[in-house]
Amino acid sequence: MLYVYAPDQGDLYASLLRAALPEWSVAAWPAPVDPAAVTHVAAWAPPPGFFAPFGQLRTVFNLGAGVDALLTRDDLPASVDIVRLTDAGMAAQMTEYCLYGVLHWQREMDAYRRQQAEGVWLQRQTRLRADVRVGILGLGELGGRVARDLVGMGYRVGGWSRRRRELDGVVCRHGDDGLNETLASSDVVFCVLPATAATRHLLDAARLACLPEGAALINAGRGSLIDEAALLARLDDGGLRFAMLDVFSEEPLPAGHPFWRHPRVIMTPHVAADTVAEEAVRQIAARLGGGDGGAAPAGRIDRQRGY
Ligand code: NAP
Ligand code: GLV
Repeated sequence: MLYVYAPDQGDLYASLLRAALPEWSVAAWPAPVDPAAVTHVAAWAPPPGFFAPFGQLRTVFNLGAGVDALLTRDDLPASVDIVRLTDAGMAAQMTEYCLYGVLHWQREMDAYRRQQAEGVWLQRQTRLRADVRVGILGLGELGGRVARDLVGMGYRVGGWSRRRRELDGVVCRHGDDGLNETLASSDVVFCVLPATAATRHLLDAARLACLPEGAALINAGRGSLIDEAALLARLDDGGLRFAMLDVFSEEPLPAGHPFWRHPRVIMTPHVAADTVAEEAVRQIAARLGGGDGGAAPAGRIDRQRGY
């Protein structure tokens, strides 16, 4: 049996999965099920202890890209496979999110907002795309697509990943030096890395200091990637023009956190890229041998690697 945990979309997922996998028994939380019959779960952020009753559980389909929250749970034995979504409609949304921030920097919308508030009519020199350097941290399913899309639009794109990568038109780097070089040669940095032990506080005070004066930082990966106190300090001293943040070390961001009212922070509540249910179901069905017969995508998580 395949059990779904997607509180706002349980009915939608259940009906799409039943259509794609007619031979499977499918139910969605909170429908009661025999826990011993559940061999597969498709879920996003289920509550603590959710998996504990499912003694026959073999595979969890994460209804998102990042699996950090699944890997730190104590109710998922190591024998259970974790499979994540790859793109699933999220990559195009990531390009939109990144582009919004890049345009904010390129077309100086922050400065024009201030000028408007002060009643100032001042035309600033327009910058062309070919003169804007965008550095993308994470060149996987999402960052790779963003990099390609921005190259196609005419931006100067650099990228950084764990392993050596090659993407047409992108200056790809890896390793510590590669990160520092990517940061130092970017007007806008777009971060779309997974949260792992290796990426925790990757952007600390020293790394943030590598960014050129007046650069901008966009984070759509996870909050843990950035030392938020160091980021606040860099925003306060004016070294960074602005930060556009979708993810935070604590979500929802606590009331009273300085980011809420910071003049150099643009915030969104973890919405940079949403899973598209139809695409998620297509990937799950392909893995379970049903659906349109398309090849099963990659997405099995390597627990040691953490993504
Ligand atoms: P992915 O395909 O696994 O790509 C991850 C990329 O990060 C790869 O290029 C990988 O390098 C790189 N990377 C991982 N650890 C690294 C390290 N220690 N040093 C350097 N590079 C490292 O993941 P994805 O599907 O693109 O998703 C990325 C993340 O986006 C998710 O994990 C999630 O946290 C976040 N996300 C956020 C939202 C949102 O709405 N805000 C939505 C979806 C996803 P290699 O290429 O060498 O493996
Ligand atoms: C959302 O943050 C995801 O990882 O899919």
